[in-house]
Parts: sequence; C-alpha cells; structure tokens
Amino acid sequence: MNQTTKVKKDGVARMNDKAKQSAANAAVEMVENGMRLGIGTGSTAEHFIQQLGRRVQGGLSVVGVATSERSAELCRDLGIALTDLDETPVLDLAVDGADEFDGALNLIKGGGGALLREKIVAGAAERFVVIADASKKVDILGAFPLPVEIIPMARQPLTGRLEKLDAVVTLRQAADGAPFRTDENHWILDCAFGPTIDNPMELAQTLSTWPGVVEHGLFCGMTEQVLLGNGNQVQAITG
Ligand code: 5RP
Repeated sequence: MNQTTKVKKDGVARMNDKAKQSAANAAVEMVENGMRLGIGTGSTAEHFIQQLGRRVQGGLSVVGVATSERSAELCRDLGIALTDLDETPVLDLAVDGADEFDGALNLIKGGGGALLREKIVAGAAERFVVIADASKKVDILGAFPLPVEIIPMARQPLTGRLEKLDAVVTLRQAADGAPFRTDENHWILDCAFGPTIDNPMELAQTLSTWPGVVEHGLFCGMTEQVLLGNGNQVQAITG
C-alpha cells in the first residue's frame, strides 16, 4: 500500500470510528436504571460498553448478558454487572453492531464470530437496537460474506450445499492458521453470495434447515431500530 492510500484509509477508519462512537452514545442514552441489557460484540459494541461503564461508575444500576467472552471481560473490567439467560431470560434492550443492514433492517452479523450468542440474546430482548456507521448501510445485503456457524464434522456436506447456491465458501481461520473456533467451539464458513442476497428471509430459512448448521448471520425481522452515526450526528432508522 502506498503512503497516500494508507493516509486515506486511516482517515476513513478514524471517521468510521467517530461515527460508531456517536451511535453507541445514542444507544447508551436509551438505557434506564434497572434495565436488563443484551450487550453486543465488536468495535461499535465496545464503544457502547465503555460508555455504559462510565454511567455505571456514575451510579446507574443495570445487569447485562454479554454476547461473547470478549465483551464479558470488558464489562467485568468496567464494573458492569453480568447475568445470564437462566437467571434473566427476558431482556429489556439489546444493543449490538452489524456488518451490513438494508432498508428493511435485515442484517448480516458475525464478522466478529459471535453470531450465535448475538442472535440468542437479540431474540431474548424486547427491543433490539443496532449501532452502526455509514459503511454498514447497503441497498441489498451480500457484499459482506455471510458467516455460517457449523459443527466441524459437517464442513464438506455444507460446503457442497452452499456452493450449489453459488456461494464462494471459506473456512474462517485464526491468526495461527488453525480453524477459528467460536465461543461455543464451532467453526465458521464465510460465504460470499456476491454480489447480492436477493431474498435474505428465504436464504435464512433454507440455512436453518440444514443439518450441521448451528446458526447463520442473517438477522431478519429482529431489529427495531438502527442508530446510524455520522460524525457527531446520529440518525434513527426504523424499518
Ligand atoms: C460480531 C458482530 C459485530 O457486531 C459486527 O462484526 C460489527 O463489528 P464492528 O462493530 O467491529 O464493525 O456481528 O460477531
């Protein structure tokens, strides 16, 4: 990468980070004393956790269910009380990031590998709010490869089925080159349905019926609102 490209890329990353922070701050303002929260995973969700931590240190009392070990650790560091869905099966509000969202507020999630717990937590919440920067907004889902969490034994049969749907399938790898393991010890197939997923709901239903698929990153009909950051501004988008 040449120096000009690098400077431009760093600038865009900084702008997106500011936007993520603004969206996260707006979500934290929705939190009320006594709430039971679902707490997402990823860089946008981490801004939410940081800001929530500040409010907790200022006296706010909440309990949260974290969607990953990473987010749980950050919550513990900041003094945010954690619970689980056995103790607290219904949540008031879940807040999480997304890799893509469309005009109907369908999402692709799982870039950070936490899609299974993220979907369980979002499903347990009365309100699911997504926080995002403008790079996540698309007309049609599909430029971001769809993460599909699988049982390792089913890798080859599932790859075959996915390829019949014209997906280019890649087994996600960890930094050491071994298969990436989710918090639940599963593998992830990243599926490029490029350039578009024409019918997310239909694909979601199909994937859910395949043996060996634990969960997929299509979140259809779950999101109440997207808080879209743009610099210091935040736009609330409802479906
Ligand atoms: C993790 C996720 C994240 O919410 C998604 O990848 C967005 O991440 P970021 O906020 O870092 O852009 O689904 O599994």
